[in-house]
Amino acid sequence: MSSFPDMRMRRLRATPGLRRAFAETTVAPADLVAPLFLKEGIADRTPISSMPGHFQHTLDSLVKEARELAERGAAGVLLFGIPAHKDPRGSGSYDSDGIVQQGLKALKDELGNEHVVIADLCLCEYTDHGHCGVLDGDDVLNDATLEIYARIAISQAEAGADMIAPSGMMDGQVAAIRAALDSHGYENLPILAYATKYASSFYGPFREAAEGAPRFGDRRAYQQDPANAYESLREVALDIEEGADAVMVKPALGYLDVLRRVKDTFGYPTVAYNVSGEYSMLMAAAANGWIDERAATLETLMSIKRAGADVVVTYHSKKAAEWLA
Ligand code: PBG
Repeated sequence: MSSFPDMRMRRLRATPGLRRAFAETTVAPADLVAPLFLKEGIADRTPISSMPGHFQHTLDSLVKEARELAERGAAGVLLFGIPAHKDPRGSGSYDSDGIVQQGLKALKDELGNEHVVIADLCLCEYTDHGHCGVLDGDDVLNDATLEIYARIAISQAEAGADMIAPSGMMDGQVAAIRAALDSHGYENLPILAYATKYASSFYGPFREAAEGAPRFGDRRAYQQDPANAYESLREVALDIEEGADAVMVKPALGYLDVLRRVKDTFGYPTVAYNVSGEYSMLMAAAANGWIDERAATLETLMSIKRAGADVVVTYHSKKAAEWLA
């Protein structure tokens, strides 16, 4: 390698054409998946105050939003359901005519096979206590929760989901869901495992959107400690052994080191979730005129891809897809 003055790093930065030709990373609309919220029993879509541009959707507005995303070339959507009634076991989650099942059917009818419809699989939006599993006192029971996850997976598969994405962080959830799907004839339905999911303070706006905040305590007995990165490699290894087809790292921005390590260690299809708090912070700063929304959004998405993500789940999907078209 030659050095200055023979080598001048600025040469390849001199024009837009050179910069574009030598970019190591690209972001395209097809890399982006949009989380969407579908709420049961509302007449009109309701804005989510902490997430400008996002709504709790009705079935109609959900389908319309998905169509707009598809027209802009986004990869697909990740659907969350908010039921009208909650109970301790979250039984609305596996109702064959439940809110998420209705949404999945409507989205598949609209999008066909050109776009991906991913079903988030968790209980916190469906339980009256807001935890991601069933309780014994204040404990979230692992194995009893797996039985419910298996039922949810089958109902989501029957509703037409292209991919099942378990986010509850119960041990053995991927194996339980894989077995349930296989025994019901869905051996070709892929699982996107939320393999490494931290107990993060950046989920706050989502919990408003999905009405899934825990009524007591927190999720630190099942989600990961932000101090740990090797632990994430073990989480990913286990999920791959259990049958995960793609693995997710969540959140994204504070965990780009984890993302890079996961991609380098396993070489698996890797997804990063650019979570609600990350979106809200950027949007709040942009609304104040402190940063440029477009530039900051595209830089954020580029950073996540550069760190190793193949796909980014992000609330920026719609605008970013338009900017990137
Ligand atoms: C539910 C779930 C959460 C998110 C995705 N799935 C919240 C949580 O674990 O408390 C957060 C997503 C976001 O903040 O955008 N298990």
